[in-house]
Amino acid sequence: MRLYINIDHVATVRQARRTIEPDPVRAAVLAELGGADGITVHHRIDIRHVSPRDVELLMRTIRTGLNLEVSSRERMIDFAVGVGPMAVTLVPENRQEVTTEGGLDLGSDEVRQSIATALKRLADEGIRSSLFIDPDYEAIDHAAELRADAVELHTGEYANGLTSHDREDELTRLARASEYAHGAGLAVHAGHGLTYENVVPVAALPRIEELNIGHSVVSRAIFTGLEQAVRDMRTIVDAAPSRVARPGEWVHPIGY
Ligand code: PXP
Repeated sequence: MRLYINIDHVATVRQARRTIEPDPVRAAVLAELGGADGITVHHRIDIRHVSPRDVELLMRTIRTGLNLEVSSRERMIDFAVGVGPMAVTLVPENRQEVTTEGGLDLGSDEVRQSIATALKRLADEGIRSSLFIDPDYEAIDHAAELRADAVELHTGEYANGLTSHDREDELTRLARASEYAHGAGLAVHAGHGLTYENVVPVAALPRIEELNIGHSVVSRAIFTGLEQAVRDMRTIVDAAPSRVARPGEWVHPIGY
């Protein structure tokens, strides 16, 4: 299981004062020292946290790989192609949202057209592509038809489930979707809303090969330091398969 750490919210704290600290580039180095397999940032159209300069400096500094999240708009793809990260994850983007609210609407012809254009450009540049989607068969079929390299299954519904019953249902959905996507020839990633408390059952799903986790790790880092926060998450993720007897089985509470 690869663990990618999303450091957007280090830049969110910096932007709260529009100053120079904390520096997301330093954060990336500490995340790598803590055992991250890669760094994820979301370059949003409104540049509310990570700036183009941050992305360029990250490309020159990190020793792992950069996964750049962007919308499929032409100018964001121009930027991504110019930077040349290891991977690009295409995400929906809505100016009013606090965070990404759901997967790409691949049922829409307009969205599919825009994604197809973006994917072609990324493939031409040799940049791995991933589509952030809800864990639905239909979305997976579209992603496979569009020839994305990977899908990132949105774990937000699972993470926000109010009852253990809701979370179990969502976990089952994620388990089925991950098998289905794997069967369709897609690499399977997952992320959004994953925490130290809820990550184990997702990290134990056998077809998921990469997790993208941000807010929970950056939150813990305020108290433990980022390197330790990443190390703690790494420990939990690596031990996950041995903590779950059957793939998808719910274990709670989660200690480590
Ligand atoms: N994956 C995607 C596509 C995202 O947009 C985000 C949030 O930026 C994450 C993963 C990480 O979510 P969280 O910060 O809740 O861990």
